[in-house]
Amino acid sequence: MSDKVLSQFKQEEIVEEIKTDRKIKVGIIGTGGISNGHIRAYLKQSDVEIIAACDLIPGKAEKRMAQYGLNDARCYIDYKEMIEKEPELEVVSVCTYNTQHAGPTIYCLDHGLHVIVEKPFTVTLDEAIEVMRAEKRSGKVLSIGFQPRFDGNMQMIKKIVESGELGKIYYIQTGGGRRRGIPGGTFIEKDKGGIGALGDIGCYSLDMVLNAIGYPKPLTVSGYTSDFFGTSPRGYHYDYALAEKFSVDDFAAAFIRLEGDIILDFRISWAMHADTPGDTIIMGTEGALRIPSTDCWNGSVGGPMTLYHDVCGKQTETVIPLCDSVDLWYFKIRKFLDAVINGTPSPIPSSQIVYNQAILDYIVKSAEAGRELEVVIPEI
Ligand SMILES: NC(=O)c1ccc[n+]([C@@H]2O[C@H](COP(=O)([O-])OP(=O)(O)OC[C@H]3O[C@@H](n4cnc5c(N)ncnc54)[C@H](O)[C@@H]3O)[C@@H](O)[C@H]2O)c1
Repeated sequence: MSDKVLSQFKQEEIVEEIKTDRKIKVGIIGTGGISNGHIRAYLKQSDVEIIAACDLIPGKAEKRMAQYGLNDARCYIDYKEMIEKEPELEVVSVCTYNTQHAGPTIYCLDHGLHVIVEKPFTVTLDEAIEVMRAEKRSGKVLSIGFQPRFDGNMQMIKKIVESGELGKIYYIQTGGGRRRGIPGGTFIEKDKGGIGALGDIGCYSLDMVLNAIGYPKPLTVSGYTSDFFGTSPRGYHYDYALAEKFSVDDFAAAFIRLEGDIILDFRISWAMHADTPGDTIIMGTEGALRIPSTDCWNGSVGGPMTLYHDVCGKQTETVIPLCDSVDLWYFKIRKFLDAVINGTPSPIPSSQIVYNQAILDYIVKSAEAGRELEVVIPEI
């Protein structure tokens, strides 16, 4: 590959695009583990102030705010009360567990707030559609928490596809997994997590490839889910007692037809008797790209990628060097704030992620039905 082509893959530099002299007032809904990522990223922005937080567990929001010295932030157990009593709020991070993404997000949008909601977008496609209707009604910015999008390697995958090096894409395999890596807490309970490995890490692997190829619409899904490891009393959890509570998927696989005559072969796993269910491979008529999986799959690239192509008729492999890492969380929040301030489109828009959600939802539905299903996405 020529230097000219490789120069396309330079990592994006941090450029502050702050165009305001006022501080945007931010609230956090759900102050569990991932709220740390949001709070730390907001604290790195000079044009933001966290003024309120909310968690339905009494005292939890107070503790989280105190941890960051945010002693003036007002704390609540009910997000509706927070919004009513904090009229200055402009922006909210929804950091609740999956089954509580849609409700607070819709409520916040309907009350004129811009929202960044954690991944997965929601649990079901119907919920995602309801959120998008609220987004449309409100005209506010909605972004979804896929921070790997800001990774230079991830951007390089998209640039390689867009450069035409791969030709017409016809087949993709994606996914990842952990030999032992079932989380605990709210992730494994259906009433809170809703879905398991699918929503925790499956949505990332779908985003990696769908974003690269321009988010084509899913047409059909033949899906499978299982929970052999999560429900086993044989100690696949860090705590034996968790098997009793386990009520989501720990493995999922699917064969998905995408618009543009592309086949997507997907698998994701929280636990298995293998090191990986395979690398991500994007196959095209002019070349193929192998993206190594990681041991603990979390949406990142596991090593240098290889581009397979013919050069003057000779089968050639070009290794793409890894990009330097950047502060993904800084960008996740900064790009969202820039969209809020400048009135520009959401950096990670629902119009794309709804297809990711449709695939997750149809994997569950198809697994239940035991057959391939046609994807129907309601009008917004
Ligand atoms: N982007 C990432 O890298 C990343 C990493 C981990 C988790 N996540 C996502 O973040 C979300 C939260 O994960 P977590 O690990 O923080 O979970 P968690 O269980 O530690 O925290 C969720 C918190 O939300 C609170 N909550 C739930 N419903 C609420 C409501 N209606 N009002 C107020 N508070 C409410 C719970 O009491 C809990 O404290 C999940 O959707 C998960 O998929 C994203």
